Amino acid sequence: ELQSRQYLVCRLLLEKKNTIRDLRDQLRGQLRVAFVPTMGNLHAGHLALMKMARQHGDPVVASIFVNRLQFGPNEDFERYPRTLQADIEKLERERDVYVLFAPDESEMYPEPQNYRVLPPTDLGDILEGEFRPGFFTGVTTVVLKLFSCVQPRVAVFGKKDYQQLMIVRNMCRQFQLPVEILAHETVRDEDGLALSSRNAYLTPEERREAPRLYQTLQALRARLLDGGADPAALEREAAESLAARGWKVDYIAVRRQRDLKKPQAADLAASEPLVVLAAAKLGATRLIDNLEV
Ligand code: PAF
Repeated sequence: ELQSRQYLVCRLLLEKKNTIRDLRDQLRGQLRVAFVPTMGNLHAGHLALMKMARQHGDPVVASIFVNRLQFGPNEDFERYPRTLQADIEKLERERDVYVLFAPDESEMYPEPQNYRVLPPTDLGDILEGEFRPGFFTGVTTVVLKLFSCVQPRVAVFGKKDYQQLMIVRNMCRQFQLPVEILAHETVRDEDGLALSSRNAYLTPEERREAPRLYQTLQALRARLLDGGADPAALEREAAESLAARGWKVDYIAVRRQRDLKKPQAADLAASEPLVVLAAAKLGATRLIDNLEV
């Protein structure tokens, strides 16, 4: 059945590390496994990552694991939507994923996780890392563990989590992991709101306001492209315009794409590729987004 690889449905649901490792042993050397790690509650953004994975490897393995390690004490770990059955049905409909790895907590963390992967502070402690201490350590630690179970040749991450993508990519490079990290463009609703499982927390009124985050980034990008404006002043203006509409802004930051550092005058003069990143709360829901310039 594995050899025929028909992708009729999501064929295998594995819950144990050993079973996914056995599967890898059977497939070793023959196949280029493409992997999409997720925390479930799958939406069109996740499904697009899986479609991309399908183009770059075979078989496609997805994982669903809500990783406690990357949630802060006052964050939404307990109420994070867990919808495994509905997720499986979506995977079966799409037929891009051959294996779903859905371990439970005792499988991934059978003992306290004392070893952690610590991202460098200049990348892991800024932006998201500043507002969510420990978040990236939790992400890199679980991604490394998932990679060690699945042993993919390729893994697909969304650009919506821009800093996460960069940190995972750097981790693979520095640890010489034989995994190629591919980036998928952010998938958006028709009104521009970046798809996220956390959008489900928004009230109808907040949902109507939510695309404003993306519109603000678009306006900021247009001003940057006009040239001559001071990025710090543009960041301030953008944050103030959101705050005036009731948002609680954590950051709006113009950064260099290559290292997420603030652009210097020489960077602006040399048309260094930039990215504008934002995180802000609407009511109780924290949204993030970004736009490359
Ligand atoms: O982006 C996510 O959903 C998570 O951070 C990831 C990469 C699955 C690790 O838990």
